[in-house]
Amino acid sequence: MHEVPHREHGATLLFGVGELTTNVPGVAGADDPDDPTAVVRDAAILLDGGRVAWAGREADAAAGVEEAIGRAPDRTVDVGGRAVIPGFVDSHTHLVFAGDRAAEFEARAAGRPYTAGGIRTTVASTRAASDDALRAGLARHVAEAAAQGTTTLEVKTGYGLTVTDEARSVRLAREVTDEVTFLGAHVVPPEYAGRGDEYLDLVCGEMLRSCAPGARWVDVFCETGAFTPEQARRVLSAGAAAGLGVRVHANQLGPGEGVRVAVSLGAASVDHCTYLSDDDVVALAGSWADDAPGTVATLLPGVEFSTRQPYPDARRLLDAGVVVALASDCNPGSSYTSSMPLMVALAVREMGMTVAEAVRAATAGGATALRRSDVGRLEPGARADLVVLDAPSRTYLAYRPGVPLVSGVWREGREVHPPR
Ligand code: NIG
Ligand code: FE
Repeated sequence: MHEVPHREHGATLLFGVGELTTNVPGVAGADDPDDPTAVVRDAAILLDGGRVAWAGREADAAAGVEEAIGRAPDRTVDVGGRAVIPGFVDSHTHLVFAGDRAAEFEARAAGRPYTAGGIRTTVASTRAASDDALRAGLARHVAEAAAQGTTTLEVKTGYGLTVTDEARSVRLAREVTDEVTFLGAHVVPPEYAGRGDEYLDLVCGEMLRSCAPGARWVDVFCETGAFTPEQARRVLSAGAAAGLGVRVHANQLGPGEGVRVAVSLGAASVDHCTYLSDDDVVALAGSWADDAPGTVATLLPGVEFSTRQPYPDARRLLDAGVVVALASDCNPGSSYTSSMPLMVALAVREMGMTVAEAVRAATAGGATALRRSDVGRLEPGARADLVVLDAPSRTYLAYRPGVPLVSGVWREGREVHPPR
């Protein structure tokens, strides 16, 4: 998200924060010491050099600012009692694409099911598009996400599926984010129909060699109509050997071994998790049993909304001790929305999550899914990424669904929205 326009302000103190969600358990001034989202009321937060320099109760701000920077802030901003949350961390998108699939969506509305095959429609449009057309689409969607409070965004390849087109997707994605995922194993492209293993020779060979240098992650779609668990293991192991972190698309359209493959390979995240067996839940929870980070279950309710599938059972995962993230999965097929506020609303309304759990999953949860500790929380040293809501509490994200509640977005200490 490098190209979003911004304004420099020096050290800035935001005060008059009615409700500050920090996601820093035990932080001074928090309402409830047991609340993992660690809400501070009547709060203030100091941003300096792109980082949070201090956060706490407004009554303690003078001393806090003095201790943090030894001088008065360059600018003060009264947010008028509004709620502030960490910027959303959208850990799962597919934004390098051309064309749309509105006709497919319309057919679903008339009763047709979603299948993995629709991906090939977008592959054809993406291959035919110029670099500039893809770049313009990316810029438009990244700006759209930023205006809705997203300050960290993962972007996958997966609509190129040739060495040249996948390498181009990595390059273009890298222009907007450091969190680039190589998804050459999205589906078998038409020219390899019936020869999935041969296609994977290419994915794990020349394609991986061309894509790994610009990517941070490798991903595979482990599902009927895409790749088998054995094929998924092969792709992920090759990616890991090339230095990439592992993430997996699995258990979206039906039950399967994808979640267990992900956990067994130490994936940072397994995404969708709509159809889970008890063994899957035990495996996910077990991955968090010791000190090392486990596998996050990333839930993508925009998909269930758009494809008319049952929503994943977040309550079951949370009660079992699994770390959960929410992400948009923004793509032209299964979830054409970049709105993290919508994900929070769906999670609360449809998936058994509390408001606190949903906001945490959309911020700190996404950060954990990307193995990032510098975003998703508001504490000294963290990146100064935050959202000012035009509401007295974060509850309004679910309570007033579909209403534009994002009144200001700060990324690395700079106000990136609204455009002035
Ligand atoms: O996450 N599941 C695989 N990939 C995307 C769908 C992409 C598409 O339909 O174009 C997803 O839902
Ligand atoms: Fe996806």
